[in-house]
Amino acid sequence: MKNTVKKSLSAVLAVLMLMTCFVFTASAENVDVSGYQVERQSCTVYGDPKTQRGFSWFTPDDCESVAQVVKISDYLVSGFDNAVTFEATSKSFQGYYNHKAVATGLKKGTTYYYRLGSLEYDVWGETGSFFTDNGDGKFTFIAIADVQASNYDNFYKASLVMNAAVETYPEAELVVNMGDFVNDCTNEEWQDYSKAFGKYNNKLTLAPVAGNHEGNITNKFNVGWFDTTFNLQGAEGLLNGTNGTFYSFDYGNAHFCVLNTNDMYPMTEAQRNWIINDLTASDAQWKILMTHRAPYSAGKNINKPDTVLLREVLIDIVDKTDVDLVLSGHDHMYMRTKQVKGDAVCEDTKFVTEVYNGVETTFAVNPDGTIYALPSTAGTKRYGVNDSAMDPIFDCADVYSTTRSEKDEEGNETNPNAGGCFAGITIDGNKLIYNAYVLSDIDEENPDKEQVITEIDSYAIKKTQKSENIEDTHLPTDPLGTIDKTIANFIVAIPSLIVTYIKMLIGGLL
Ligand SMILES: [Fe+2]
Repeated sequence: MKNTVKKSLSAVLAVLMLMTCFVFTASAENVDVSGYQVERQSCTVYGDPKTQRGFSWFTPDDCESVAQVVKISDYLVSGFDNAVTFEATSKSFQGYYNHKAVATGLKKGTTYYYRLGSLEYDVWGETGSFFTDNGDGKFTFIAIADVQASNYDNFYKASLVMNAAVETYPEAELVVNMGDFVNDCTNEEWQDYSKAFGKYNNKLTLAPVAGNHEGNITNKFNVGWFDTTFNLQGAEGLLNGTNGTFYSFDYGNAHFCVLNTNDMYPMTEAQRNWIINDLTASDAQWKILMTHRAPYSAGKNINKPDTVLLREVLIDIVDKTDVDLVLSGHDHMYMRTKQVKGDAVCEDTKFVTEVYNGVETTFAVNPDGTIYALPSTAGTKRYGVNDSAMDPIFDCADVYSTTRSEKDEEGNETNPNAGGCFAGITIDGNKLIYNAYVLSDIDEENPDKEQVITEIDSYAIKKTQKSENIEDTHLPTDPLGTIDKTIANFIVAIPSLIVTYIKMLIGGLL
């Protein structure tokens, strides 16, 4: 009897197990995973580039999501079998779901492969890779700006410029983009950007800068796009997320401070103080500041009130904090200044010419002041030189030019600097070598004609002595606690702006 009951129970159990298995299999098979497809993936600096990376991506429907990261040595043996998994968070954004994960505990100086997606449903985006900073003080990065396209064709043309940059600098580990990735901040534009640039973004770590076209509340209320599209460790205490992100990081022996110039209108005391604190706290050999709006430019926006205010606030901060190089965007033309301090050229700069990497290179030696560079646009929307640029822009400029195509009556290109622009910067211990290039446009009448990369500028700095130590400041960055100073900033800014405009009117610049 006992055996009969046992047998019956076993049979029921077996049937139940089979049914469960069938139901589970049927449900897994029946799940439509098309809404879990990974789109617009990015790999960005997040905190320390030696040990961490930020990932962001979108899916049409919400799902469980992770980032998987594996060293190249393991990947070549067993793919992602031994990958480390980092759980992602997700949120609804503009009709899609945005996922974010941070990889931590990485080994410096190592190539990693990564994939982003759903572990549960085995749905993944394209496999990407990145190289963690080895901290040895020698590295190369690519700088581009203002792709600002609104259709795939123009994103594709800009991606050819990125391709030229990677061909010129195959050793580059990092790409910095000075903002205005897209024009109107629609899902379609970001998808087109990602489709065109994915090949390069999936191999390089990106340090993005917020432009006015992707997060400025005064520009079509494009709120939250920048902060959602990229996973960045925003500076504490500042208003990150609505119209851009402030952040900073060390790479090799350089410190990068990334501003959100969409926030320069209010000029809050908190953000001024954060910039000063951040730059004075760093004892890195090189300090690089990245902004979207440009303090020095001979482009169309230089005389506008937002830029006038930016210059009044920022130039003084740059001078006091010993910044070597400021990289900016926004004006879609090429410009690089001489060594500049106090809004004037450092006339006593000494130069030496020597061979570096087989190339005769002229270095500014222990120069005072800062170089401001504007690597035009990698895109197709290019502006001319603004002949009415306020003083002392032209006095401070070393090289400036439109990168717009200019043709003669026969249709021949007459501008030697015409094309999509990129810059490459190598830091090698105590040397910084900066070069800028243009890639000639596709010849629409002769599409098989090869596009040509032309160097349009070069500059280098060499430091044979340590920079003077600047005092580490700890100014308050609490927006509410510094509101009285912020109001004072406004009160000072308005008459100052009026005086600047009267001067421009008298000088015939308006
Ligand atoms: Fe812009």
